[in-house]
Amino acid sequence: MGGAFWVLMLVLCSGFRSKFDLAVALLPDEATLMAIGKELGVPGWGVNGSFCTWPGIRCDGENSAVEELDLSHLFLRGEVDLVSELAALKRLDLSGNSFRGLIPPALGNLSELEFLDMSMNKFFGYIPKELGSLRNLRALNLSNNLLIGEIPDELGSLEKLEEFQVSSNGLNGSIPLWLGNLSKLAVFAAYENNLVGEIPENLGNSSELWSLNLHSNWLDGKIPESLFAMGKLEVLILTQNRLTGAIPDEIGSCKSLSSIRIGNNNLDGVIPRAIGNASSLTYFEADNNNLSGEIVPEFARCSNLTLLNLASNGFIGRVPAELGNLVNLQELILSGNNLYGEMPSSILGCKNLNKLDISNNRFNGTIPAVICNISRLQYLVLGQNLIKGEIPRDIGNCAKLLELHLGSNYLTGSIPREIGRLRNLQISLNLSFNHLHGSLPSELGKLDKLVSIDVSNNQLSGLIPPEFRGMMSLIEVNFSNNLLTGPIPESVPFQKSPNSSFLGNKGLCGEPLKSVCDISDQHNPYDLRHRVSYRIVLAVVGSGAAVFASVTIVVALFMMRERQENAAKAAGTIVKDEANNPPTIVAGDIFVENLKQAVDLNSAVQATLKDSNMISTGTFSMVYKAVMPSGLLLLVKRLKSMDRSIVHHQSKMIRELDRLSRLSHDNLMTPIGYVIYDDVALILHCYLPNGTLAQLLHVTSKESEYEPDWPRRLSAVIGVAEGLAFLHHLAVIHLDICSGNVFLDSNFSAVVGEIEISKLLDPSRGTASISAVAGSFGYIPPEYAYTMQVTAPGNVYSVGVILLEILTTRTPVDEVFGEGTDLVKWVHSAPMRGETPEQILDAKLSTVSFTWRKEMLAVLKVALLCTDNIPAKRPKMKRVVELLQEIKQN
Ligand SMILES: *[C@@H]1O[C@H](CO)[C@@H](O)[C@H](O)[C@H]1NC(C)=O
Ligand SMILES: *[C@@H]1O[C@H](CO)[C@@H](O)[C@H](O)[C@H]1NC(C)=O
Ligand SMILES: *[C@@H]1O[C@H](CO)[C@@H](O)[C@H](O)[C@H]1NC(C)=O
Ligand SMILES: *[C@@H]1O[C@H](CO)[C@@H](O)[C@H](O)[C@H]1NC(C)=O
Ligand SMILES: *[C@@H]1O[C@H](CO)[C@@H](O)[C@H](O)[C@H]1NC(C)=O
Ligand SMILES: *[C@@H]1O[C@H](CO)[C@@H](O)[C@H](O)[C@H]1NC(C)=O
Ligand SMILES: *[C@@H]1O[C@H](CO)[C@@H](O)[C@H](O)[C@H]1NC(C)=O
Ligand SMILES: *[C@@H]1O[C@H](CO)[C@@H](O)[C@H](O)[C@H]1NC(C)=O
Ligand SMILES: *[C@@H]1O[C@H](CO)[C@@H](O)[C@H](O)[C@H]1NC(C)=O
Repeated sequence: MGGAFWVLMLVLCSGFRSKFDLAVALLPDEATLMAIGKELGVPGWGVNGSFCTWPGIRCDGENSAVEELDLSHLFLRGEVDLVSELAALKRLDLSGNSFRGLIPPALGNLSELEFLDMSMNKFFGYIPKELGSLRNLRALNLSNNLLIGEIPDELGSLEKLEEFQVSSNGLNGSIPLWLGNLSKLAVFAAYENNLVGEIPENLGNSSELWSLNLHSNWLDGKIPESLFAMGKLEVLILTQNRLTGAIPDEIGSCKSLSSIRIGNNNLDGVIPRAIGNASSLTYFEADNNNLSGEIVPEFARCSNLTLLNLASNGFIGRVPAELGNLVNLQELILSGNNLYGEMPSSILGCKNLNKLDISNNRFNGTIPAVICNISRLQYLVLGQNLIKGEIPRDIGNCAKLLELHLGSNYLTGSIPREIGRLRNLQISLNLSFNHLHGSLPSELGKLDKLVSIDVSNNQLSGLIPPEFRGMMSLIEVNFSNNLLTGPIPESVPFQKSPNSSFLGNKGLCGEPLKSVCDISDQHNPYDLRHRVSYRIVLAVVGSGAAVFASVTIVVALFMMRERQENAAKAAGTIVKDEANNPPTIVAGDIFVENLKQAVDLNSAVQATLKDSNMISTGTFSMVYKAVMPSGLLLLVKRLKSMDRSIVHHQSKMIRELDRLSRLSHDNLMTPIGYVIYDDVALILHCYLPNGTLAQLLHVTSKESEYEPDWPRRLSAVIGVAEGLAFLHHLAVIHLDICSGNVFLDSNFSAVVGEIEISKLLDPSRGTASISAVAGSFGYIPPEYAYTMQVTAPGNVYSVGVILLEILTTRTPVDEVFGEGTDLVKWVHSAPMRGETPEQILDAKLSTVSFTWRKEMLAVLKVALLCTDNIPAKRPKMKRVVELLQEIKQN
């Protein structure tokens, strides 16, 4: 593309000069911009005459000096040093590209600069002290790069700084004391670095500070009282550090504190009663600390509380009845404490409760018969307590339940047949280690999404009902140590289980036990081969649901670093070490038999060490091209930042990948293998030669003479919708749908990538957080902001955005839409601006033929439906496929 572009530039420039006196020098900024355009290949520059109209540029009207330069999210690479010659710049946004190298110290010359965003690139080295000269700077964002060293003290002179973000780098040293002297500081984010030392006592002196996010560092000392003193704080995230001491009483002075996340530290003491004065609180997450005392009833005054996670602490006493007033509460997680008393029936007042986990305490009493009055309950986890009595029949009314864990209690009576009505039960049914007797109800055989059933260590008797053969999604079964008799069901999930799943039942016979049944010929032999693929599909259903069937986005990945001694060693400059000593592969496998010979794991690793092999970088991963010695080409995906937690749960990850690899759908990118070395997980895919849909739409199309390609675009999006409809059918919700994650094969058919991310981020583990990990900017449905759920309608919205992209050839976020407006709003508000649909569509396509125009207008209608603000009004993904196919056929 560079070639054609420069020919055109020369024509334009020579034309420009001939009109004027050749002796007139180019305006200084114009010369600089032309050089920048040449260096970076900025799409669209040079097409129009005046540089002030080029995309991403805004000039001061009188002097034609460039005041704003926005090159964000354009897939650019190259040197950015020249930018520092645009002396009048007030706003510079280079975020979301592939820039690498040092941050140019000469940027410090831009004395007018107010906004500098260099986030989401690959800048490395130290933060230049010269940035301290930017005396007018109000926002500085260097997050998501490869920066090292300390935050330079020179930045202490940025007296006007309001927002300062340096998260997700390799910074070390401590948090500078001068931060507390920046009187305008409102936002400070330095999470995911290697910062040590204490949080400065005076940080709260910045009377404007409302958001402080320092999670995943090595900070120690106390949470300073002063943070709360000014009363402005709204968001405090300190998860995964080594903080000690108590939660300050001053917390009550923050009337607008909405989110406090301090899990995975060494905090002790009690929860201050003043918490009740922080009445805006929505998330309180303090799991995995040494907190003690009782759960204070004052929480009940925080009427907007959505999540309360106090797991794995030393809390004692009863659960205060007042918590039942929290009608907005969605998750109550109290596991791993010393709580006792009757099972807190007051909790039934929390009508919106989605997850109730009080496991591993000393609760006694019985399970309230009306437990299912909480109609939204998806997780009921009561295991490892002292609960007595029978399982109430009404449990069958908990229609949304995904997980029912009552194991290790003192439950008596028999298993109610009503459990068979819990058709959504998918994650697990655990009734083990109780005193249950009687027979297994045949109705349980209707639980055809269930992945794990454990009824071991009870006194259950009779046959395993033949109906259980229908539970094809089972992966883990445990019937051991009961009084069961007769043959083990002959379907695959049972036959493939280890014999330990059935031991301790004198009367059981058949595979996988050694004992042969006398009467086995009575049983209709199953055609196992027929069933295998069905089982795999269902296995995926279950495990997908385990994580994602509209589960709250409690994505913990950023914070799941386990505190391991050797983590200190590994932390920091991983990237550089790799270049020097070739890494040792810890584990790796190729799932696809006929590719085993052709793939060399070492070559895959080596490919990721060279930046020149990088193809794209997304929210969760970086993708490299790798050439195998056999000549085979692979896409190698290196997972970002969550590596450590994933590697810690290696066997789970490998299981998930293996399952996914067997998922067969032409429009889904399934893994063919993986490699793990050091802390890093690489996932291998077959190479797709035609880049991504984003590149097709936004890079190729910016070239002056691109082929109008409407049919290709429409087919691609139909493929995307088909792939996703298949996933939704399996109850898997995609986490990051965007045109950058849609790859194109040699026929330009769409292949949706990043599906494994939905499997590898396991929100059920670790600290819950509701950080927005739900996709890429511009594709995130509006409701995610307040529902905190990733949902199938959310996916439909994102597909709607892609439809708008192919119709308009515009990116989902673009400055031309105006302040606070994205592609969706821009299209939806077209009638208000008096624009017809034709004015929205890319004229290069819609003017080619009447048929194309008609199809585009029909697709626009579908896109508007998909991007409806109200999730319930959006069509199902399956319906989207049908609608689009109809348009294509007519
Ligand atoms: C050229 O300028 C016109 C108006 O100034 C604008 O509408 C158009 O989008 C510009 N074209 C490009 C490719 O920047
Ligand atoms: C710009 O910055 C560089 C490096 O910091 C410095 O050498 C140079 O003198 C500065 N130029 C101007 C015009 O201030
Ligand atoms: C970087 O930080 C600034 C200031 O806090 C913010 O406005 C901007 O959106 C951030 N950039 C990205 C890409 O998130
Ligand atoms: C911080 O990192 C830099 C570069 O890796 C190193 O030279 C320096 O010693 C480190 N400083 C501290 C305090 O650990
Ligand atoms: C912060 O400001 C105070 C008062 O102006 C000054 O005494 C102190 O040295 C400053 N602290 C730092 C670390 O700059
Ligand atoms: C700032 O913080 C320091 C240390 O906590 C404290 O002594 C001082 O009084 C505070 N200054 C103001 C203006 O609040
Ligand atoms: C809560 O606020 C009220 C009035 O705003 C105050 O009287 C009370 O002392 C505060 N409670 C605590 C525990 O801080
Ligand atoms: C709870 O949230 C609602 C909606 O965001 C808000 O209007 C209300 O003021 C909040 N209540 C409190 C006590 O902060
Ligand atoms: C439950 O435990 C509490 C406190 O440990 C005890 O006082 C009570 O009697 C127990 N209730 C039952 C039904 O066992």
